Amino acid sequence: MAEQIVIPPTTDRRKRYAALYPQVAALLAGEVDAIAAMANLCAAVQQVFGWHWVGFYRVVGQQLVLGPFQGPVACTPIAFGKGVCGTAWKEDRPITLPDVDAFPGHIACSAASRSEIVIPLHGRTGAVAAVLDVDSASLDDFGPEDGRELARLCRLIEPLLP
Ligand code: SME
Repeated sequence: MAEQIVIPPTTDRRKRYAALYPQVAALLAGEVDAIAAMANLCAAVQQVFGWHWVGFYRVVGQQLVLGPFQGPVACTPIAFGKGVCGTAWKEDRPITLPDVDAFPGHIACSAASRSEIVIPLHGRTGAVAAVLDVDSASLDDFGPEDGRELARLCRLIEPLLP
């Protein structure tokens, strides 16, 4: 199959997610390697939405270690409970930040990030095994639909996680 993501000619985010999901599902069908799956998922999401930074951190021992991403170079590692990513891991819940400057522990990898959403991914044991971190250069760029749709995309990767 030709590996390419077709971006629908609309700025409607709902329609973009609706077009993206089956393409990512097809792209990842048969994939057995979690890193490869993460790499293609974040590339597809970044390509369709153009966000500042889209990437994964993986749980390695007591830290989050940078995984596949699209965007500027990023901080690594992140300790359990630190920053937005470490908090989403510790509390095992998605976190949406309309304004990163309003979160006291935010780790500023890039001054251009203004809002952020972090989604935990669970492995076969049910524990958090990775997080998806999406950063936008616009304030208040993420809503409930992004939380739902990004989590749905992440579920395509969860069966590959330890
Ligand atoms: N903002 C994150 C750090 C990771 S970078 O944004 C890529 C945090 O506070 O967890």
